[in-house]
Amino acid sequence: MTCSIGTDVQHAAAILRDGGLVAFATETVYGLGADALNPQSVARVFEAKQRPKFDPLIVHVAELAQLDSLVKQVPPMAEQLAAAFWPGPLTMVLEKESIVPDLVTAGLTTVAVRIPAHPLALDLLRKANIPVAAPSANPFGRISPTTAAHVAEQLGDEIDYILDGGPSQVGVESTVLQLTADAPLLLRPGGLALEDIEAVIGPVSIPNPDARPELTAQHSPGRLPKHYAPRTPLVIQNIDSMDVKAGTRIGLLAFSTPSDVSDFTAVEVLSADGNLNEAATHFFAALRRLDAAGVDQIIAEPFPDEGLGRALNDRLKRAAQK
Ligand code: TXA
Ligand code: MG
Repeated sequence: MTCSIGTDVQHAAAILRDGGLVAFATETVYGLGADALNPQSVARVFEAKQRPKFDPLIVHVAELAQLDSLVKQVPPMAEQLAAAFWPGPLTMVLEKESIVPDLVTAGLTTVAVRIPAHPLALDLLRKANIPVAAPSANPFGRISPTTAAHVAEQLGDEIDYILDGGPSQVGVESTVLQLTADAPLLLRPGGLALEDIEAVIGPVSIPNPDARPELTAQHSPGRLPKHYAPRTPLVIQNIDSMDVKAGTRIGLLAFSTPSDVSDFTAVEVLSADGNLNEAATHFFAALRRLDAAGVDQIIAEPFPDEGLGRALNDRLKRAAQK
C-alpha cells in the first residue's frame, strides 16, 4: 500500500482536477473517482479495477444544476425522485449529452448519475467542481469497500489518494433506476428501498434475469451474475435446515442472532435483532472478515425480500456464483 489516506478535501479535489484517481467515502460504499469528462483519467479507473470496458460508470455531482450539461433532459419522475431522495443512495439512468465520454457509458446512449449524501463526498465534488465518474473502489468482481482500509488493501498501489470518511453508513451500493423509457425500470436493487421509490412515483418494473438474461445484459451491462465474491466458497442456506459434515470449518454470516452456533468456526451477526438497514451497514465488512477467517466454506442466511433485504439478497446471490 503506497498511497496516502487522509481527510484533505482540497488536496483530493486538486488531484481529480489534474486527472488523478481519488478513492472517496460515500454513504453507500467507497468510490474510485476520476474526472468524468477526461477519458484518460477514466481509462485509469478501468485499469486500476481491471474492469471490463463494457461496464459503464456512475457519474457523481454535487448539485442538480450540474446535470444540465450531462443529460438531455430530466423527466418529471426524475425530478420528483431527486427532490425526495438526493443527496442519497439512488442512481438514475437518463439520456446522455455528447459531452459525456463513451468510455464512461460503455457506448450507451444513457448515463447513470447520482448525488451522494456523504458530507465529505459532497465537499469533494463541490471543491473539484467537475462531474466525477466513480465505480465502487474494489477490484472488479470482488467485495465492495466500506472503509478506507478496505480500499488501501485492495487498490492502494493504483490510486493517488484515499479520502477517509469513516465506515459507510448505508453499506450497499445505490439503487440504479432507469428513467428513459415509459415505465421506470429497476436495474439494481440497492441502498434506497424499492418501496420508498414506489411511494413517490408509483410502480417500478423489475426485469426478471432468469426469464430474459439478454435483456438484463442490454439494460445494465455491468450486472454480471458473479460479483461481490469472497475467495471462500459461499452458499446461501437457512441454518435450521443445515447438515454440517464433521471436520469442515464453516463460517456463518447470520442476519440476526442465531440460537445455536456450535457448528461454526467463525460467526458474523449482521444485526442482533434482525434490522435490515443495520445488516446492510455491516454486510461487506463482515463478509471480508469471514473470507479472512480461514474457513472452508461460508454459509449465508437469506434475508427477507423487502426493504434493503432485496439488495442484500442480490449481493448474496452474486457472491455465491461459482
Ligand atoms: O453506491 C454506488 O452506486 C457506488 C458509489 C461509489 O456511488 N458506485 C457503484 O458503482 O456501485 P459500480 O460501478 O460498482 O456500479 C455501477 C452500476 C453497474 O451495475 C452499471 O452497470 C450500472 O451502474 N450503470 C452505469 N451506467 C449505466 C447506464 N448508462 N445504463 C445502465 N446501467 C448503468
Ligand atoms: Mg461495484
